[in-house]
Amino acid sequence: MTNELKPMKAVIFDLDGVLVTTDGFHYRAWKELADELGLAFDEEVNHQLRGISREDSLRAIYRNNPGIQLPPDDVFHAQCTSKNARYVELLQQMTPADILPGALELLEALRAEGIKTGVASASKNAPLVLERTGLGKLIDAVADGNSVARGKPDPEVFLVAAQKLEVMPENCVGVEDAATGIEAIHRAGMPAVAIGKQAVGGDVTVNKTAELNIAIIKELWMSKQKG
Ligand code: BG6
Ligand code: MG
Repeated sequence: MTNELKPMKAVIFDLDGVLVTTDGFHYRAWKELADELGLAFDEEVNHQLRGISREDSLRAIYRNNPGIQLPPDDVFHAQCTSKNARYVELLQQMTPADILPGALELLEALRAEGIKTGVASASKNAPLVLERTGLGKLIDAVADGNSVARGKPDPEVFLVAAQKLEVMPENCVGVEDAATGIEAIHRAGMPAVAIGKQAVGGDVTVNKTAELNIAIIKELWMSKQKG
């Protein structure tokens, strides 16, 4: 047995709800589609869609409307496409002001210590969000809905991010605002930081990104090394 401590080489962040605020845009795009289709949809249902794919989100909206049947596949996919077209349109309004408070400082602090930064997002629009906000220049590698076959809670997106960063998953920490994402991080073999109480199961929880700092992440890392 060796007592050598493993170094923390990278921190891999979920994007929506962790580094940027896109909740409002997703809400507006889903709400417009739901209204068109006569489906009930509100902020509470929107919160249940954190971290899950576009298709799973629409399935969840239909599940919340038990009287209305899921349409055939082609219509279902056309509805997903229509929501996305509106979402992409809304994303054009995004600016660096949509970066969540504390996110830039944290990414810069990690970089300054030689710790790599990655993104692991369910969203196929992650590249556009990173571009619109200017966050891309502080991120070393991105895995997103375009890079994986299986959505969270499958660990694939975190494992692909680690691979792109050229670090082993055992040298990474993950950060998430959704319970499905926390499960994905753990299944990837990484300790998990939870942002918000809805992200149940985290090894450490803070209320919002602004409360997270490099000291909390290092403390988590050390506690995992001991335990
Ligand atoms: C996640 C969001 O990051 O991306 C979910 O939390 C969203 O709400 C998912 O459904 C997929 O996003 P997109 O942009 O591919 O439709
Ligand atoms: Mg999220």
